[in-house]
Amino acid sequence: MGAEPYYGPDFGQLRERDPEIAQVLLDELDRVRGGIQLIASENFTSPAVMAALGSTLTNKYAEGYPGRRYYGGCEVVDRAERLAVERARRLFGADHANVQPHSGASANLAAYAALLQPGDTMLAMALPHGGHLTHGSKVNFSGRWFDVVSYGVRRDTELIDYDEVRDLALRRRPKLIVCGATAYPRLIDYGVFRGIADEVGAWLMADVAHPIGLMAGGAIPSAVPYADVVTFTTHKALRGPRGGAILCTSELAKRIDRAVFPFVQGGPLMHVVAAKAVAFGEAMRPEFAGYARRVVANARSLAAALAAEGMRPVSGGTDTHLALIDLREVGVSGAEAERRCAAAGITLNRNAVPYDPEPPAVTSGIRVGTPCVTTQGMGEEDLAEVGKLVARAVRGPEASAEVRERVAALLAIHRPYLSRY
Ligand SMILES: Cc1ncc(COP(=O)(O)O)c(C=O)c1O
Repeated sequence: MGAEPYYGPDFGQLRERDPEIAQVLLDELDRVRGGIQLIASENFTSPAVMAALGSTLTNKYAEGYPGRRYYGGCEVVDRAERLAVERARRLFGADHANVQPHSGASANLAAYAALLQPGDTMLAMALPHGGHLTHGSKVNFSGRWFDVVSYGVRRDTELIDYDEVRDLALRRRPKLIVCGATAYPRLIDYGVFRGIADEVGAWLMADVAHPIGLMAGGAIPSAVPYADVVTFTTHKALRGPRGGAILCTSELAKRIDRAVFPFVQGGPLMHVVAAKAVAFGEAMRPEFAGYARRVVANARSLAAALAAEGMRPVSGGTDTHLALIDLREVGVSGAEAERRCAAAGITLNRNAVPYDPEPPAVTSGIRVGTPCVTTQGMGEEDLAEVGKLVARAVRGPEASAEVRERVAALLAIHRPYLSRY
């Protein structure tokens, strides 16, 4: 008998060889099936993405790019990378794509390496206002190696202060302007950022790690026509494997490729590159547009339900997959709310709200997102109920058993990883 044409994950073998790790995998599946996941940066990848991730492509060294590798035997994995690049370019309408970054942080490091020298000035959103660590935080390489100028949101509207961005850009003349955030519920006006970048002769980078899936599905406007470089993660709303990627203009293609390899990384993770290709292919299907629209509709429903319970959404609501909720009027800290929700079977994270008086480990807010619950099939009415459950869990720890029961009832209908999709 000939060999099976496919050799892939064998859970029985894992259980036999390493029962401890096998149990971790089972317990994690139980955890996600046993609670509602509202972490805005997470999603449930498809079994097809997982099959690519658990494949023999993990074994292959392929430093370099398709057709120009520093190892032999790359002709097969080259096909995976060419497909991933081609699909990313088509999906986002970009001149060039690099699909090798191991993560969002690595993609940002490579983008900075392509455009800046140490000590250069960059302008980006402050972490306490919703920016990411890699946008110039002092505890990150970006804050240590560059002269970082930060902008934020206005106190009254809690929206990006575009006047401040322009003033700072005119005064400090950054070489790079970064837009994009990790906790900003509203649309970003990439056209305004483009105008400011042109006015001061700066490069414009959009870090759309969070909303890229919504852009892929056409639910919100894309940053690609405006930015010189677009960095993103593949594992959030896009529903792919953990990883990063970069889109850029033809002008910057060589600089970006050289920055990813050999400057920042060695060999690409070819199993992840193949899984990215699968995710891009899935995002090109018409059903993904429906998914992206439902993610936003669900986030709006969740934010409205929380607002009706006296839990204020920052900026008054959301246009995306996430909402930031200010709990100061409720009198419960973000950290305590995170604990109370966890006890009731709802996973979410504490998050600073703009001008937060509390330290980052405590915070006055929570961040909630809908990519996971939408993947498992919940709709707007379900999210209205989830909002009420979050509010009850946050307000009273004594309600946790009752909330848990309702959570279980919702999950009995919408359980992740029970059917194929
Ligand atoms: C805006 C933004 N950029 C970059 C990253 C980093 O991605 P990773 O965790 O894959 O390094 C994140 C992750 O949350 C993010 O939100």
